[in-house]
Amino acid sequence: MELLPMQECHVAGIAALERVCFTDPWSEASIRAELHNPLSCWLVAVEGGEVCGYVGSQTVLGESDMMNLAVAPACRRQGLGRQLVERLCDALREKGSTCLMLEVRRSNEAALALYAAAGFRQIGVRPNYYFHPKEDALILRKELIE
Ligand SMILES: CC(C)(COP(=O)(O)OP(=O)(O)OC[C@H]1O[C@@H](n2cnc3c(N)ncnc32)[C@H](O)[C@@H]1OP(=O)(O)O)[C@@H](O)C(=O)NCCC(=O)NCCS
Repeated sequence: MELLPMQECHVAGIAALERVCFTDPWSEASIRAELHNPLSCWLVAVEGGEVCGYVGSQTVLGESDMMNLAVAPACRRQGLGRQLVERLCDALREKGSTCLMLEVRRSNEAALALYAAAGFRQIGVRPNYYFHPKEDALILRKELIE
């Protein structure tokens, strides 16, 4: 398994995994646009040419937002999600980012457990933030510098 910066050859695989993992998936075009966005940092886990997971972020004025994180169902509970988050934090730190924030569905126990273990803490709630189904988002934040 390799963790690589996202390239054009990964876009279709990421879009396919988005559709498997989310009820409101990013389109292939939106994902491709991130390749040309200087604010973006996306990492992809690849094995045998297949996309097994990815994480995407954008950074504005030294503060980063994680926009999506997913691991293919067949590859879950093997530490890949944790590795993607850790590698993203390292990459963002190197770019000078001071914190990483994200939104997560209140009911997403797997992601919440991963984020807690990775050092994120809850800083707020966005009521009814998500659709399909409607649900609150918890806002989490991790400091990237001591
Ligand atoms: C959330 C997700 C990315 C986790 O990926 P993963 O590769 O399975 O996660 P890891 O194997 O690195 O797990 C790290 C820790 O997270 C927690 N965790 C992960 N999956 C869990 C689950 N199903 N139930 C409870 N805890 C879980 C555990 O603490 C785990 O550590 P452990 O295996 O040592 O107990 C994956 O389940 C996924 O893609 N879900 C669908 C998309 C999604 O919800 N993305 C997040 C949007 S905010």
